[in-house]
Amino acid sequence: MQIMPAIHDAQILESALKHAREQKLVLPTFAELASPHAVRKEIQRSLQNVPRDRPDPLNLFRINWYNAHEGGGLREQPEWLEIPRSVSGVPARILVVLGDTFPMIAAHKVLAAYACLVTRLVTGRFDPRAGKAIWPSTGNYCRGGIAISRILGCRGVAVLPEHMSQERFDWLEEWTLKPDQDIIRTPGSESNVKEIYDTCDRLEREPGSVILNQFNEFANYLCHRVVTGPSLGTLFEYAANKGDRLHAFIAGTGSAGTIAAGDYLKQVYGARIAATEPLECPTMLCNGYGEHNIQGIGDKHIPLIHNVMNMDYVVGISDVGPDLMNILFNTDVGHAFLAGRTGVPALFLDKLKHIGISGLANIQSAIKLARHGDLTENDVLLCVATDGAAMYRSELRQCEQEHFGAEALPADVAEIFGRCLSGCEPAHVHELTGQERKRIFNLGYYTWVEQRGVDVGEFDRRRNQSFWDGMAAEQSLWDELIVEFNHRVGT
Ligand SMILES: Cc1ncc(COP(=O)(O)O)c(C=O)c1O
Repeated sequence: MQIMPAIHDAQILESALKHAREQKLVLPTFAELASPHAVRKEIQRSLQNVPRDRPDPLNLFRINWYNAHEGGGLREQPEWLEIPRSVSGVPARILVVLGDTFPMIAAHKVLAAYACLVTRLVTGRFDPRAGKAIWPSTGNYCRGGIAISRILGCRGVAVLPEHMSQERFDWLEEWTLKPDQDIIRTPGSESNVKEIYDTCDRLEREPGSVILNQFNEFANYLCHRVVTGPSLGTLFEYAANKGDRLHAFIAGTGSAGTIAAGDYLKQVYGARIAATEPLECPTMLCNGYGEHNIQGIGDKHIPLIHNVMNMDYVVGISDVGPDLMNILFNTDVGHAFLAGRTGVPALFLDKLKHIGISGLANIQSAIKLARHGDLTENDVLLCVATDGAAMYRSELRQCEQEHFGAEALPADVAEIFGRCLSGCEPAHVHELTGQERKRIFNLGYYTWVEQRGVDVGEFDRRRNQSFWDGMAAEQSLWDELIVEFNHRVGT
């Protein structure tokens, strides 16, 4: 909900401080998450002895975009991959920033989970001693929430649709304290968010339960605007050749947190903001609904934290495309084809495993945008891979069976290349007019005002960019509260 950088309840804050002392917690500020090289050297040194996949308090300092895939150190810019013209079929430069370098869950959604919890913790709005953190999500955010809960030493509960990938459930089985109680499966799949809300409403009635709903917690917006945005800006500046322009930032929207990085990239580089949406659930495209398999995006409603009025494009992608590209990019037969057809080196092929299904959808969006706008080799399209292919191995085998009846053959991957890359038409590229933005914004009314009881004045305030800019400007106040919290913990 609306976040205010001010103490809400001093008694709860005291309890949180006591707990943090016992757990020896030090909380990173937003500035440190955005610029991890500035973190105190003693913390950076201690981190070298901490494995990335452990619920160790120091791993909070790995919640940033600069972790290297290899070793435990920091890079000068986020890990990324450029999709060459021989693969994309377009001259525009497509840069994919890789989110699977984030600790514990190998997806950047742990950043949103940390932001939502820390803003409550330092203002006395969550008591880790008495409270149970409930993390509603379509898979990665709740894993991030469980990881943060483990570090904090408090109970965490994941709420997610039953049809999300098996890999997500396997991870949750390992990380939740009481898997039989702390993993709650809701009916349906990716787009069944209403069912998640209904379950949370029930859970909220239990004493001590705090719902950390990424779809309406503005900390989710804040962290991507002030952490992801500048980190991606660093990458653009590093990768840009002379004369390059940042044409657009492309992200699929689930909670619509990640796309907030676009607000920063527009402000600083003039980038356009494009949202990828599953064609099978075209909520922004045409108020539509439906089932799809681009896990993490296309949740059949407009999140409260989505700054709709700053968007420029919505690009519709069928979920068949990224499912098939997963086969091309992550099988030996696919790699042999790509090497022979496009000449890409083995190093490039090896890095493709860092792009999960929603990242593949963003690459298709980038290709469509490039064709739609006749973009040139000086136009840079920056897109996000929230997680890597490791989360979708079971989906890959299923998709091979569904489409080809067995493991894919050379002819099958050649078909995928023609269908999803070289022959990817610029269809369903929706350039938003003011009227269209308004239509999408207004659609949120039914969820938030009618169903969830948000005050209509509060809902409407979000039309104005000053609302979002004001929130970003409060970053320093949040950082002061985090510093003060650490000081009082005295670790
Ligand atoms: C794999 C994946 N891609 C994309 C998204 C969308 O990110 P956001 O919720 O920040 O819009 C999510 C969100 O959970 C995700 O898990």
